[in-house]
Amino acid sequence: MAKVTRADLLAMKTQGKRIVVVTAYDWSAARLLDQAGVDVLLVGDSLGNVIQGHGSTLPVTVEHMIYHTACVTRARPAGLVVADLPFGTFQRGAAAALDASIRLVQEGGAEAVKIEGAGERLACIETVVRADIPVWGHLGLTPQSVHAFSGYRVQGKDEQSAARLLVQAREVEEAGASALVLECIPWELARQITAQAAIPTIGIGAGPHCDGQVLVFQDLLGFSDDFVPKFVKQYARLGDAITEAVQRYAEEVRQGTFPTLEQSYGAPGGRGKVKKSAGRP
Ligand code: KIV
Repeated sequence: MAKVTRADLLAMKTQGKRIVVVTAYDWSAARLLDQAGVDVLLVGDSLGNVIQGHGSTLPVTVEHMIYHTACVTRARPAGLVVADLPFGTFQRGAAAALDASIRLVQEGGAEAVKIEGAGERLACIETVVRADIPVWGHLGLTPQSVHAFSGYRVQGKDEQSAARLLVQAREVEEAGASALVLECIPWELARQITAQAAIPTIGIGAGPHCDGQVLVFQDLLGFSDDFVPKFVKQYARLGDAITEAVQRYAEEVRQGTFPTLEQSYGAPGGRGKVKKSAGRP
């Protein structure tokens, strides 16, 4: 499949074709997402939650993001690879945003970066875009601002904050962003922002009228039932499937029924050559 580009995503908006985005943090998941034909693989700093086990995205560093972005790009997916600028980058200003963006492109292979917020952040978007690195904006419930928001809360619920988000969406676009993630805002506000924007909007908890949707890999595949936000749909229950498979493996190891002699080297008629495990290159 041909590589998805920034221009393709713009054309999809114009043609009314919905954009499919899923988070990815490693090579094997990136390969599966590629086989499924997703348009964009987002190396989200949500890896702080679902990979590192933190309660927020704040502990995620540039080094972590580079490591995971490189794991994803090594799969050479056709989908565009967008990487989050983590906490402690654009919050320090445009020069820090540019440094981190260059590293994500050069060392991680990212094809675009994502910057949360507007206001002071507009200068960061402009600077990174001027360096020819495409930038995605992110408005609404921006998780790096969790403490400023006093928790993970739906944004833009009252008239004043909805009006502010409409203005910010226009400013992010004018700063040069090539797409805009809208997280946890009322669907009607997301519809208005999508209608006013020339760039694609990608919703998560923002209703059905965005130009595309993004879900976290582990949420979409039902890795856990610990906390399932209202906007998540689990298309599989891999958490249960994995637990059940590992329990069966553990049982067979304990009973001595795995491995069989046929699965062992030195079996009569067997070959000595070590085959690589499924999926390894
Ligand atoms: O970090 C992330 O995964 C994200 C998406 C949820 C939009 O920013």
